[in-house]
Amino acid sequence: MKIRGMIRPLSAACLLAAFAAVPPAGFAATLVGNPQAGKSKVYTCHGCHGIPGYENAYPNYHVPRIVGQNEQYLVNALHEYQSGDRSHPTMAAQADSLSDQDIADIAAYLASFAKKP
Ligand code: HEC
Repeated sequence: MKIRGMIRPLSAACLLAAFAAVPPAGFAATLVGNPQAGKSKVYTCHGCHGIPGYENAYPNYHVPRIVGQNEQYLVNALHEYQSGDRSHPTMAAQADSLSDQDIADIAAYLASFAKKP
């Protein structure tokens, strides 16, 4: 009987298939942002980024305007602060507290302002 010898390659193939099904960490492209959920999540961003009103609450240092920014740009930026590709201690601390879904929701909410006149 050759069944014994066949079990191993088969289970190895199953294992590979299982790993292939797991999306790589940080892959957020499939997440759909919910602007309504994002609205409550940007509460902590108000102090520095001044949403809404586009006013900078702290004029003594530069804070980029994020409201109305491109959705994918915001998602990328927040992931880059998380991963360290962008180094900024304050924003890294902010981004670290966000889940991928939070980031998607926040980006959807902020980007929604760009579509309005
Ligand atoms: C304590 C002040 C502070 C808070 C709170 C804060 N930010 Fe920031 N944020 C900054 C500063 C300063 C920068 C510019 C950092 C740099 O130069 O990389 C920045 C940059 C960013 C950028 C990049 C913008 C660009 O044009 O590249 C995004 C996106 C962003 N913040 C999103 C958020 C979100 C979302 C929140 C709330 C979860 C938040 N920030 C809370 C201070 C803050």
